[in-house]
Amino acid sequence: MKAPDAKLETIAVHAGGEPDPATGALAPPLHFATTFQHGAAGERVAGYEYQREGNPTNDRLCTAIAALEGGEAALTFASGMAAITALLESIPTNSRIVIPDDCYTGLRVLCAEFLPERGLHATHVDMADLDAVRAACADGVAAIWAETPSNPRLRVCDIAAVADIAHTHGALLVCDNTFATPILQRPLALGADVVMHSTTKYFGGHSDVLGGALAFARCDEVYDRVAHRLHVTGASLAPFSAWLTLRGCRSLPARMAWHCRNTRRVAEFLAARDEIERVNYPGLDTHPEHAIAARQMSDFGGMLSIEFRGGRDAALAFAGRLKLFINATSLGGCESLVEHRASVEGPKPVSPQNLLRISVGLEHIDDLLADLEQALP
Ligand SMILES: Cc1ncc(COP(=O)(O)O)c(C=O)c1O
Repeated sequence: MKAPDAKLETIAVHAGGEPDPATGALAPPLHFATTFQHGAAGERVAGYEYQREGNPTNDRLCTAIAALEGGEAALTFASGMAAITALLESIPTNSRIVIPDDCYTGLRVLCAEFLPERGLHATHVDMADLDAVRAACADGVAAIWAETPSNPRLRVCDIAAVADIAHTHGALLVCDNTFATPILQRPLALGADVVMHSTTKYFGGHSDVLGGALAFARCDEVYDRVAHRLHVTGASLAPFSAWLTLRGCRSLPARMAWHCRNTRRVAEFLAARDEIERVNYPGLDTHPEHAIAARQMSDFGGMLSIEFRGGRDAALAFAGRLKLFINATSLGGCESLVEHRASVEGPKPVSPQNLLRISVGLEHIDDLLADLEQALP
């Protein structure tokens, strides 16, 4: 892209979007090739050899994600979990990582069931409590994993402060930026070393493509290690998925603005209802980390969760009465979703039983509020 000081909206539309040099086509070519012809001396002619190790469609998406996050490089993966796994498995064995006490279930399960097999142990902390983060790092730490806002309780941590703690210990700070997206929050500019995304969510934006990404502040040995692991272990993003995700990038800023606008109204509406004990949404000034969110985010995102006074039964009954909000997992698509997280967290759920997570979509706000109104007792 030839506009070095371009704003995020412009980067989203143009990064990785150079017209195809072979045809002039504006839509990026979708390369399905698994193999690329060698040169006479066996060399890579245009930098490609085998799809698992990279292909031109995927590289366009990497360029776009790196540009949006302000990183030197990005890698894409078959899913968000594949991105998390590749990064964490690149950390030296027999080390400690610090992860948030509120985080995506998949990270929690990975840390509990798989990472200990290679001597990697996770300590859970309340990331908003910087003394707790310092204490968890006191005996040495290889990486701090932040997720802000977090899933499903929308907790927020001070990325710059946590980066300082990580760097004091010679550790990496990785930040899951799935909920905020680079449109609302840019962790690398705040000191994080790596940003992680489930691109399945807002990047894809239409609930039809699975993927994950890592954006790296520097193209250094951490990047090299993770890239090597990806290319050997093979959790590469398929070209069509890369193409769909790249298309999602183009409208990401516009969609995020609409998600944020609708979500604020939904949060305010629900916060005024007696049936609801708590609305977890960083844009409300009752949120415990509202001031941090207001400082490090340009808006508060499309996600919230609510906790019912009437417990699990009240939460499930409400979800059952909704007509427009669809009861389904995932988030970040055009359609509004609601989910009882405890029901999908396996045998040891950690989310409160009275909690519903809501992904606010792009429908008209009047229709969304009317649906919530009719579903409340
Ligand atoms: C915050 C967060 N991180 C990571 C993931 C995992 O991503 P994926 O489902 O694409 O593997 C999810 C999935 O819901 C998520 O919500």
